[in-house]
Amino acid sequence: MVLEAAEMKRIVAEAAVDQYVKDGMNVGLGTGSTAYYAIRRIGQLVNENGYRLKCVATSVQSEELARGWGIDVLDLDEVDKLDITIDGADEIDPKMNLVKGLGGALLREKIVAAATVSEIIVADDSKLVEKLGTKAPLPVEVLRFGHQHTSHALKRQGCEPVLRMKDGKPFVTDGGNYIYDCRFPNGIENPFFIESRIDVTPGVVENGLFLNTAFEALVCDPEGNLTRVSETVKRD
Ligand code: 5RP
Repeated sequence: MVLEAAEMKRIVAEAAVDQYVKDGMNVGLGTGSTAYYAIRRIGQLVNENGYRLKCVATSVQSEELARGWGIDVLDLDEVDKLDITIDGADEIDPKMNLVKGLGGALLREKIVAAATVSEIIVADDSKLVEKLGTKAPLPVEVLRFGHQHTSHALKRQGCEPVLRMKDGKPFVTDGGNYIYDCRFPNGIENPFFIESRIDVTPGVVENGLFLNTAFEALVCDPEGNLTRVSETVKRD
């Protein structure tokens, strides 16, 4: 039996919720088509099992989804910290470093991850890569002011930045910014160095590299088997 991508996402997201979310926790809600299933499962725990959770969303989209499933959503500043966040990823390398942001929520996702004790990543196995930047471009959120100048500066880091569009207009993030999807021709050789260069580029708000952030990455293959990337990870 070979599972469809949506089924892999459902299986891995529900497994993560069932393993990690406990009654009384503060929980971060990720963004994207995999996080969707995690939010739905969390809604079941709240409505059917009576869990009392304090939840914080990483996007307006996830906040609306969560409220639709009867989950109260708080502002991040209403909690001291989050015990768990369950979120997706666009790429996961063997060191459990990530590229995130193809869903456009990288800024809040990074702020929420930084406030989280255990960041749990859920994905189907198409997201596993040997080197970051080889399948997905690196999303970089930039201020609208002078964004073309910012893109020229990004290009000097060895990538090809493309302004993300939606319905014929630049895509605007929840924070009111633009995103440049930066394609590195040979992937990202040294993610820590590239992150440090991108972060000091004027106009950059946030980048989609999530390095040493994940506590666990749970991955589902087309046969429905779950793998824990943490079991084989060797960190820098
Ligand atoms: C949104 C993200 C998502 O987590 C990432 O794009 C994965 O999404 P999906 O689960 O739909 O593949 O970073 O900003």
